[in-house]
Amino acid sequence: MSTNSPKITIAIDGYSSTGKSTVAKRLAKELNYIYVDTGAMYRAVTLYALQQNYITKKKFDKKSLIKNLSAIKLAFKYNKKLGFAEMFLNGKNIEEAIRSIRVSNFVSPIATVPEVRKYLVKIQRKIGKDKGVVMDGRDIGSVVFPDAELKIFLTADPKIRAERRLLEFQEKGLDADFDIIYNNVVERDEIDSTRADSPLIKVADAIEIDASNINKEEQFQQVLNLAKNTLTKQTS
Ligand code: DC
Repeated sequence: MSTNSPKITIAIDGYSSTGKSTVAKRLAKELNYIYVDTGAMYRAVTLYALQQNYITKKKFDKKSLIKNLSAIKLAFKYNKKLGFAEMFLNGKNIEEAIRSIRVSNFVSPIATVPEVRKYLVKIQRKIGKDKGVVMDGRDIGSVVFPDAELKIFLTADPKIRAERRLLEFQEKGLDADFDIIYNNVVERDEIDSTRADSPLIKVADAIEIDASNINKEEQFQQVLNLAKNTLTKQTS
């Protein structure tokens, strides 16, 4: 695609396991844009909170987490071999650790804390200030970049999402259980869409894509076409 078109901001929001990151990553590569996985940032804060024992099944010490937010230094470092940027927490590569079911189980309560959101949104806006960014998450089109030129909202049947996630774990040779994954998907949908601060919503100017009955390639082609159309409009 022409590199002369003015750069735009592309927000990809939606439920968990709808293929957001896969599509966003590939789109960023195609357009030569920066890709930002904001879910990875909430997962990184969650990993930190677990490491510090601020959150367990029995308690959540929000006060300590909020007090120590500035000790959480996040960085994305591009991995040439993998073709995307990996998440680092205080200098340590945590890309694998943040994908565990343990982190998935605690991330939604962490993401309800307004101070955590404020801290991360500030970093996200800084990364995307010059446009040329594909950012995926839950509140990108609604809160982080409400002026994004292209907003996409991804949905899919929760059972299909859980099956896809199970397959991902199995492909990595990891042990996983459908019911545990399904419950996690449903629970996160509920917490993410009903929280008071920046809930997951489809904003009026977002284009919805239901990924239940299309494969990854079809999903990518739909998103790519939308991006191409938006870019064409910018130049005309
Ligand atoms: O995209 P993901 O599944 O890796 O995101 C993990 C969690 O982080 C998700 O359940 C809710 C939270 N999140 C959020 O609240 N806002 C974002 N912009 C991205 C993620």
